[in-house]
Amino acid sequence: MTGRKEQGRMARGKQETQEAWNKVDTVCRVVEEGIRRGEWTAPDKLPSVRAMAERLGMHRLTVMKAYQKLADDGVIEAKYKSGYFVREADRELKAPSDVEPSWDYQAKNVYTNRSRLADIHRVPVDYQMSEALIDPGLLPNMYMSNYVKQIFDLYPKLLSTYSTVMGDPELRESMAGFFKEKQGIALHPDELMITTGSQQAIDLVSRSLVKPGDKILIERPTYSPAIDVFAQQNIRLIPVSITPDGYDLEQLEHVMKRERPRLFYMNPTFHNPTGFTVPVRQRKLLVELAERYECILVEDDVYHDMYFGNSPPPPLFYYDTEGYVIYIRSFSKYVAPGLRISVLAARPSLMRGIAPVKALADNGTPLLNQKMFQLYFFSSRLQEHVAKLRIALQLRKEKMERLLAGTGWRWTSPGGGLNLWVQLPDGFPVDRLLARCLEQSVAFVPGSICDPLGELDSWIRLSYSFINESLMEEGLRRLIAAAGELHNGST
Ligand SMILES: Cc1ncc(COP(=O)(O)O)c(C=O)c1O
Repeated sequence: MTGRKEQGRMARGKQETQEAWNKVDTVCRVVEEGIRRGEWTAPDKLPSVRAMAERLGMHRLTVMKAYQKLADDGVIEAKYKSGYFVREADRELKAPSDVEPSWDYQAKNVYTNRSRLADIHRVPVDYQMSEALIDPGLLPNMYMSNYVKQIFDLYPKLLSTYSTVMGDPELRESMAGFFKEKQGIALHPDELMITTGSQQAIDLVSRSLVKPGDKILIERPTYSPAIDVFAQQNIRLIPVSITPDGYDLEQLEHVMKRERPRLFYMNPTFHNPTGFTVPVRQRKLLVELAERYECILVEDDVYHDMYFGNSPPPPLFYYDTEGYVIYIRSFSKYVAPGLRISVLAARPSLMRGIAPVKALADNGTPLLNQKMFQLYFFSSRLQEHVAKLRIALQLRKEKMERLLAGTGWRWTSPGGGLNLWVQLPDGFPVDRLLARCLEQSVAFVPGSICDPLGELDSWIRLSYSFINESLMEEGLRRLIAAAGELHNGST
């Protein structure tokens, strides 16, 4: 009995020490980020320990330790009785393209995927199958505009107010109710942060929880901008294959044990780009693995509500009792992508590290967007909209599958989401296919962009959500014809 108590005390002690160091790391990150953004340039004096502690809501001792660590690392300089200053020498931070990638699995250059994707999206095409966005014709634009008017009656001073860093308290309160009712997850509003899209949430996590040299797990394939976000931090990306049956848990445990990754960025429900959903039986086991190997699971759940037929299993976050899961839920896709509203949920030990980074990023997501979202999201109209949208998306998916049926290409029919992940014959020149398609006003995403290893060359991602059914017919006709010409030319 005493032994167990003692063990518990030691475990708590270890956790508290870890938390204390996490906080020190957070302060270091804030200062380094401030220097990178030019908030302080050499030879500026940094805010005093007391001022910084107040600004970040942290203990002075934590800030002191962080300043000392930065001084030891040569980032800043301590001057006797004067304070801490940005160091003159070596302060030139390299532009991202000059940074030497040090991760084992060459993820090529920072920003590579994003810019390759942006290059594709930049081409104005009539047959748009590269954007995982919903056809504006299926979104509630007109209703939204009515809500805009109502908002100003309700909150006349809205535009002259900032949101709090964590997000509008009213919205966080409603969101806590939403998670309780829909997901059976009890959360305090302080465990919820409103972010400017899930993209920002991923970025905040990467800035606050990993540091250069850390290892993280990332699905293969994955949401390609996430590769860039983590690669930008100069960390080691360890790919984990996702299949229609989820992950190979034995292999995953082996990697966790050997590599001790800091986190696992995952999109386990209607995964982008594959549409796969990690089965319910793996979810609890994954959380157990995370606890055992102290690996944070960053669960990106953008497509949760975009299901066809059966609703998906509960998020991994539902099974988390020890605070190892960070849950990111975007509403961008089906409410209004332009509002950029997403929610990050995390237990206090992790949230404490993320909040100061959000403060630095934008001091809080625009309040107007949050209020507009709140009014619409919690209206009965939204439920009607989502129910119809699911049917419309399912019809488009089925149409795409019918149109591709004769090609001999392979895919697993997704139970939700916005994309088909399609395998062409081995060695198919997908880049040449893309070039030809773009010339003919057809866009899709080559699989290599979604691969942390930059391979998966014979796969493509086709989004069925943006293009309407008649355009889809012609777009796929052109795509299939272009593929046929390339195939005949190469045999
Ligand atoms: C898996 C995944 N995560 C995050 C995002 C970004 O979402 P948001 O629009 O909320 O930034 C997307 C968008 O395509 C996505 O597919």
